[in-house]
Amino acid sequence: MKTVRLGLIGLGNIGRHHATYLQAGKVQRCELVAVCSTTPAKMEAYRPLVAWTDARALIASGTVDAVLVATPHYQHTDLGIAALDAGVHLMVEKPISAHKADALKLIAAHERNPKTVFGGMFQLRVEPRYQKLRFLIESGELGRIVRVNWINTDWFRTDAYYASGGWRATWAGEGGGVLLNQCLHNLDILAWLLGLPSSIRAHVTLGRDHTIEVEDNVTAYLEYASGATGVFVASTGESPGTNRLELTGTRGRAVLEDGKLRFIRNLSDMTEFSRTSQSGFAKPESWNVEIPFENADQPHAQLMTNFTDAILDGKPLIAPGPDGLASVELANAMLYSGLTSQTVTLPLDAEAYALKLQKLIAGSRFVKKTVASDASDFAASFRR
Ligand SMILES: NC(=O)c1ccc[n+]([C@@H]2O[C@H](COP(=O)([O-])OP(=O)(O)OC[C@H]3O[C@@H](n4cnc5c(N)ncnc54)[C@H](O)[C@@H]3O)[C@@H](O)[C@H]2O)c1
Repeated sequence: MKTVRLGLIGLGNIGRHHATYLQAGKVQRCELVAVCSTTPAKMEAYRPLVAWTDARALIASGTVDAVLVATPHYQHTDLGIAALDAGVHLMVEKPISAHKADALKLIAAHERNPKTVFGGMFQLRVEPRYQKLRFLIESGELGRIVRVNWINTDWFRTDAYYASGGWRATWAGEGGGVLLNQCLHNLDILAWLLGLPSSIRAHVTLGRDHTIEVEDNVTAYLEYASGATGVFVASTGESPGTNRLELTGTRGRAVLEDGKLRFIRNLSDMTEFSRTSQSGFAKPESWNVEIPFENADQPHAQLMTNFTDAILDGKPLIAPGPDGLASVELANAMLYSGLTSQTVTLPLDAEAYALKLQKLIAGSRFVKKTVASDASDFAASFRR
């Protein structure tokens, strides 16, 4: 195989974005050969590519080596399993599944088909600002991490956004709100930087700022086995919102906000300083460092290039699909804690959460009104 023959499943906001850079040749050795949508009219624009209305038929056709699944959340599991069991490589949009039990099923399908390449579309991982934060942690520059605070309230969405798709912001169609959709990218980065906490206590409000039944406001308190603590705040109802990630370690503090990454570097470890200083009010000397970074060019295309290289050359994936379990687990656990008003210990009980979600679906009285909206400014939503 010298090129990867790719089928794109789902031609909504993100599916069309993927099609655009793929057709512009931004991913070498990856050829978009087929598109699939349950809405045939959406495929007209992609002629003469082969058009499928049934994703399973496309997967079974033998005409593609890989698929990119860009459908609503619940289909990720079923279509992903169908692809992996057919020996078709899989790149799945985030979240890898709507809930942990489904994510485990998808990962099990990959484990029984180990020759398949399974990637997750977590494009923030190629952003140098997050790579540099990871470097600060892994190199020991920050010392032992004691606190993380991430205010993620710049995911503002209008009612028109929620009304643009029947699946959006419903328990049955999406399985969650700001946590599972918008902030899932941030939860992936949080887990990529720090691993999973050992417990979570969250407060969530359902439809506080929108006519929706799922969560649009979250404040979560996290505890890590290391003793570190954290606060994660998310909202789609605030404008202007804030995106401030603050990581405090014993060797200093890194703050990512307003397009700047600042590192206040302690010249000595603060814990060591506290133990050895003879003065009651002294502090370690600290230096201000501004860490330069560029924004990634075409981050989705970069992940697809890496996926292609993994298939053709065996290169390691930047965002392996099974890594997507962590962000699903965080989103589910925060929501579960908020809904049950209890502290949730991790690992999350996947079956208990699935049952809770089923009850929310069964108990839903929400009547969704769908209205077409202008999505021409969609790409602006990638900036964080
Ligand atoms: N990585 C990113 O930057 C990013 C950005 C936006 C959305 N997403 C994710 O992408 C997915 C899609 O989001 P969206 O905003 O494009 O949604 P959307 O509603 O705009 O598009 C989804 C499309 O999938 C189609 N579809 C549904 N079931 C299908 C099936 N079985 N076979 C083929 N097509 C099917 C629908 O007709 C619709 O056109 C979600 O998981 C979302 O979280 C990722």
